[in-house]
Formats: sequence, structure tokens, C-alpha cells
Amino acid sequence: MSEHIIVEREPGLLTLRMNRLDKMNALTRQMYSQMAQALNAATTDRSVQAVLITGSESCFTSGNDLMDFMNAPKAGLGGEVLEFMQALFEFSKPVVAAVSGPAVGIGTTMLLHCDFVYVSQDALFKMPFVKLGLCPEYGSSLILPRLIGQAKANDLLLLSESFSGEQAVAWGIANEALADGAATLAKARETALRLLDLAPSAVQVSKRLMRAPGREELRQVIKEEGELFGARLSHPEAMEAIAAFMQKRKPDFSKFL
Ligand code: COA
Repeated sequence: MSEHIIVEREPGLLTLRMNRLDKMNALTRQMYSQMAQALNAATTDRSVQAVLITGSESCFTSGNDLMDFMNAPKAGLGGEVLEFMQALFEFSKPVVAAVSGPAVGIGTTMLLHCDFVYVSQDALFKMPFVKLGLCPEYGSSLILPRLIGQAKANDLLLLSESFSGEQAVAWGIANEALADGAATLAKARETALRLLDLAPSAVQVSKRLMRAPGREELRQVIKEEGELFGARLSHPEAMEAIAAFMQKRKPDFSKFL
């Protein structure tokens, strides 16, 4: 087990903390795998009633590790990433997220599959898939136009515009914006602890009911996005964009016109 995902257990609550701050908590295949395993184990573990996902006080996550994408583009999105996506998507118990600082790529899209999201006022959300020569993932191409309208979804998914914690609350992506990382984590823990006092199966049945409409369609879109995203990783546009990030320069897409 790597120390990049810290798994904390206390009665009723499982906390998963992304902890790779030197790389802005960029998610490696191993980190995805650890989170997937922890969620899958928690599914059948009656002692876990709720899960809390968080990062560091200054950063939630910068999304997928771009080195992983660059080193193994032919591997597609990767089994571990898909395993994590599926584990969270299918997770029957409530998931609370505490987000401060950057939440990029899957750092934003995973929140669409959490049940309570608390954000700090310095949280910064961004889905730079197209900017990286890729395409939306994890259901974002279906959920966001429906949630915030096509026009705003175009800003976020085509132009990769970033948005704030306050905006995430206004759009219904997050529950509440708090002053800073410590207050955000405290509020997320408070909600998680409140969930522990509720009747566990009543919470799970209610979560399932609320997420049921359109679920099959969403499952299908996640699969389709995953295939397209995976295929695009070896596209020259993506290779140029990812190399440009690593070399700290602007990408040059003019050769693909
Ligand atoms: N994958 C791999 N390494 C990453 C990373 C990622 N997703 N995000 C950041 N890093 C690395 C940087 O390369 C840098 O490494 P170095 O110190 O060896 O040069 C280090 O983490 C710090 O990142 P830096 O960009 O200097 O931090 P910042 O505070 O200026 O910016 C971000 C933070 C998150 C806005 C910026 O790092 C970023 O945009 N990252 C890429 C996000 C992304 O495109 N994710 C993929 C989405 S599919």
C-alpha cells in the first residue's frame, strides 16, 4: 500500500485522503486502485456506514497523473481508473467530499457521484479535457448540460473554464462553501457523523431511489466516454498537449489543422 492514499477507519466512517502533495495529489494508477479496493471492501463491511473523500488542506487533486497518460497512452484510461469510477458510481452508502484548493479533471467529475460536497472558498474546479486533446469523462458530458444548461456546460467542457467553490454551490454541484480547508473538512465530518446516526438501510434505499432515474443511460455514457477518452490518449493532439504541460509550454495544435 502506498502512503499516497491514507485510509482512516473510525466507528462507522471510512476516510480516504489523497496525499501526494508534491504532485498536487495527481492520481496514479496505484492510488485509483487503492481507493477502488477500499470502496469495494466498504460495500460489504457492515461497520462502514459512510465514506469521506478528501485531499490536503491546500489541494484536493490535480486529476489523473499526466505522466501516467504520457508513459502508457496505449493503455487507454486504464483498468484502475475504470475500477475506481465503477466503485464510486455503484457505491450504495453515502459519500461525503471535502474539497479545498484545485480539483481538476476527475477531481471535479468524481464530485458528481458523491452525495454531499463541501468546498472551501479557495476551491478551484476545472475540467481541461479538451485542452488536453481529450474528451469529457465520468458522465460529465451527460450530467453537466442537464444540471447547469448547455451554454454553461460548453464553457466548462469545451473551453475548460474554471469555476469557484461559491459557483459550485450555486450550480448544485456542492452543498456549501466554507471559509477555508479546515472549516470545510470539519463541516464534511459533521455531516458524515450525522449520517452515522441515521437508519443505515433507509439511507441506502433513499440514495438508490434518488440516483435511479436515468441511471442506465448514465452508466452507458460513462462507458462510451471512457472508451473515447482512452482512445484519444494516443491521439497526437493529446500527446502534444500533455508533453506541453510537462515541458511547461503552450501546446501547438496548428499542425493538426
Ligand atoms: N499529473 C502529473 N503531475 C502533475 C499534475 C498532474 N495532473 N499536476 C501537477 N503536477 C506536478 C507538476 O508537474 C509539478 O511538478 P514539478 O514540481 O516536478 O515540476 C508539481 O505537480 C506542482 O504543480 P504546479 O503546476 O507547479 O502547481 P501549481 O500550483 O502552479 O498548479 C494545478 C496547480 C493543479 C493548477 C496545475 O498543476 C495543473 O493544471 N495541473 C494539471 C491538471 C491536469 O491537467 N490534470 C489532468 C486532468 S485530465
